[in-house]
Amino acid sequence: MEILRTIEEMKAWSRKVREDGQTLGLVPTMGYLHEGHLSLARKSISACDRTVVSIFVNPQQFGPDEDLDNYPRALETDQRTLEPLGVDALFLPTADDMYPEGFQTYVHVEEITEKLCGKSRRELFRGVTTIVLKLFNIVQPHSAFFGEKDRQQLEVIRKMADDLNLDIEIVGLPIIREADGLAMSSRNQYLGETERKTATSLHEALQQAQQLVAQGESSAATIRARMRTIIEREGQAEVDYISVCDPNRFEELKVIRGKAMIALAVHVGKARLIDNCLIERI
Ligand code: PAJ
Repeated sequence: MEILRTIEEMKAWSRKVREDGQTLGLVPTMGYLHEGHLSLARKSISACDRTVVSIFVNPQQFGPDEDLDNYPRALETDQRTLEPLGVDALFLPTADDMYPEGFQTYVHVEEITEKLCGKSRRELFRGVTTIVLKLFNIVQPHSAFFGEKDRQQLEVIRKMADDLNLDIEIVGLPIIREADGLAMSSRNQYLGETERKTATSLHEALQQAQQLVAQGESSAATIRARMRTIIEREGQAEVDYISVCDPNRFEELKVIRGKAMIALAVHVGKARLIDNCLIERI
């Protein structure tokens, strides 16, 4: 596995891959890798001739009160995890290289970034789309792989790719969970022992919602209320949002008809956890 630290090295490597007529897959990450990240890398390895994983804790997507400085990092372990998988290159740019002094150009997707996570995390999506477009331009992949755990992020990236006519296939892949249902996340390591138990209530609430819909419930308010009860039962969790919305535009629904997304963000201790699922009511 090649370790590429500068933008120039990365560009030269991917240019060579394209000149050789090979397809290139990109898996952007912020590191501290877990099975969720690895599922994206495995998919890219099976779908493309060559795979690049990037690790970059992007300062532009963290707010002033967020966990940029404490965000977990484990570069050596990450490297050792990726190598045997068959990843061809690991791109490790520095913040100075990505955002040199005088940097002033940002990518902003409008309406859909104002909903859900965009409400409480103002900087998030502008930071995400800016770094992802920069990575796309540097690596020039044929396909890029993202997790449905961050479904709003995935849709925002799809919108950017569509609106800006990018010639890159955006692939979304299912949420990978721990045995007890908790969606894997680098931020799970902030959880203490009892918080870790509380955290499983997110998945439990989603399952309960799915069950209610399967039994014929169509009122979004009823579903949200039931989910809130499950999450607040533990007393350690603080709900940021529970949403029953249109899966593409993220407009809140009153009544569920056809496809919908149920999404939630909850603070448990120092961790802000998110999860979601898609449902369909015929
Ligand atoms: P990060 O949180 O490291 O996640 C990298 C990718 O892994 C994202 O596409 C995310 O959706 C996916 N992922 C995380 N947990 C997952 C899980 N349990 N199951 C499946 N996929 C999962 O998301 C980011 O980094 C950043 O915003 C980034 C896109 C790299 C831009 O900085």
